[in-house]
Amino acid sequence: MKQIKTIYSNIYQFTDVLEPMKLSMHQYLLLTEEPVLVQTGAISQAKKTLPQIKEVLGDKPLKYILISHFESDECGGIALVLKEYPNAICICSEVTARQLWGFGLAQNIQIVKPEETFNGNDFEFKIIGYPSEMHMWEGVLFFEAKRGIFFSSDLMFQIGETHGQVIECNWNHAINTSGADQLPSIDMQKKLISNLEMINPVFVASGHGPCMKIVK
Ligand SMILES: [Fe+2]
Ligand SMILES: [Fe+2]
Repeated sequence: MKQIKTIYSNIYQFTDVLEPMKLSMHQYLLLTEEPVLVQTGAISQAKKTLPQIKEVLGDKPLKYILISHFESDECGGIALVLKEYPNAICICSEVTARQLWGFGLAQNIQIVKPEETFNGNDFEFKIIGYPSEMHMWEGVLFFEAKRGIFFSSDLMFQIGETHGQVIECNWNHAINTSGADQLPSIDMQKKLISNLEMINPVFVASGHGPCMKIVK
């Protein structure tokens, strides 16, 4: 099996491509003492990527699963991942937690709120509100402040087969083309954009599309 390489710092990217539109669905594993998986992919994706994730983890158990919002590419594979790593803790908004509990998909959940920080031994995730749940209720975005990595989920979205791709981009341009202006109310747009303006990422781990190295 060929060796799986990091895409940035100690972050690994796993991807499945949705046909026929060629939409890349990325997942990320932050390999620290307390390994963190960002997004599970849909169940078909989790079936394919879980063996690769296990290979990278070796005998370390997965500690956390970060879920931006309740949608199949974000957490459809959760039951499969939890079967393999039953002690993993899901980190998500209260709205997302209600879905996971309500569908009986996960029990071990830690709720996070916008403007909070979710800390571990070697990471510091700042939580940003993201109106991405049904009825535009609150989902979340994650910014890992120690390494400067923003996990964009469905923002900064691009179609195409983009596994392993990294482009250079200025943060203002990334915000302006993020899709935040597609939110249904001006207040939601302004709030999300101003929250994004307050962080200074050096790297964007995109949910769909190329990753970005942030340049001045
Ligand atoms: Fe989504
Ligand atoms: Fe997504």
